[in-house]
Amino acid sequence: MSASETGSIFGRFPTTRFRRNRQHEWLREMVAETSVSPQDLVWPLFVHDKAGREPVTAMPGVNRLAIDGVVQAASEAKSLGIPAIALFPVIDQERKTADGQHAVDPDNLVCRTIQAVRAETGNDVGIICDVALDPYTTHGHDGLLENGHILNDETVTVLQQQAVVLAQAGCHIIAPSDMMDGRVGAIREALDKNHHDEVGILAYAAKYASAYYGPFRDALGSHAALDTAKSLGVGDKKTYQMNPANSDEAVREVAFDLDEGADLVMVKPAITCLDIIYRVKKTFGVPTLAYQVSGEYAMIQAAAANGWLDGQRAAFEAILAMKRAGADAILTYFAPQIARQC
Ligand code: PBG
Repeated sequence: MSASETGSIFGRFPTTRFRRNRQHEWLREMVAETSVSPQDLVWPLFVHDKAGREPVTAMPGVNRLAIDGVVQAASEAKSLGIPAIALFPVIDQERKTADGQHAVDPDNLVCRTIQAVRAETGNDVGIICDVALDPYTTHGHDGLLENGHILNDETVTVLQQQAVVLAQAGCHIIAPSDMMDGRVGAIREALDKNHHDEVGILAYAAKYASAYYGPFRDALGSHAALDTAKSLGVGDKKTYQMNPANSDEAVREVAFDLDEGADLVMVKPAITCLDIIYRVKKTFGVPTLAYQVSGEYAMIQAAAANGWLDGQRAAFEAILAMKRAGADAILTYFAPQIARQC
């Protein structure tokens, strides 16, 4: 029967009206395929070695916190229903060295922060910590630098020690963000050997060499450091972080990290990698996290500050899209705002 015969503009399906299910808020909510709740969020926090808070210029609303500020934030996370925080230390310039040795000091800033948070929130709030050398190196690279090259295996040895030190301090989940080859297996081995078999590994498995990390590097002061590195011939991280042109490679990276013992995997950045999140979740069916990185946060906040878009809605929509793509949880600087909105 043709459209003209039924007198309907709908042709063969005169009764189908998609708009019917969109008429009311309760109905839209009832048929929603995806949702965001506080339990889907991880809250990244910057900690510095001084009193009080200091705003991060390129990330309006985000501060570098003192240890007591992080403890407070962890308690807030608990009351908001946010399951975990991710800690990023801002290391004083005079503690940075070319070999980043302060990373393995059991008394360093991040270890003291972990202890303080654990003393307050115990096992109620998860503590996730990066394993990588960039906060500690004068050149800002995630690994050891020699003659213009980032050394892989030598770096992995230091990362093993860094992971053990973090686990000893009470970190729940170790998150290698360095992108050295073979680090997940090596870290698993080191943790187990030191009786930390209960400590999990969240592998930054598909981490791209992205322009969207700019504001984060400002927060850590590793931007200036990377400028120094430029003069040494390696001003970017393209020899270890992935080329944004690639997607099959991301699947292989994830496969290797899982094989080496990763408990959870991460895709980063998030909004430019929805296809990767989708593929990873579909292919492996393992806990998959996405990181809505500093640049994604900064873009939304900048436009919102100008009145060009509704920041809260834009942030929520982006996070919803990450969930729809397959992410089980999202690291986001918007975590407390979103949790309050859910
Ligand atoms: C360090 C690290 C980075 C981020 C998380 N861990 C920066 C980088 O790799 O240069 C970026 C997070 C963000 O931009 O929010 N290895």
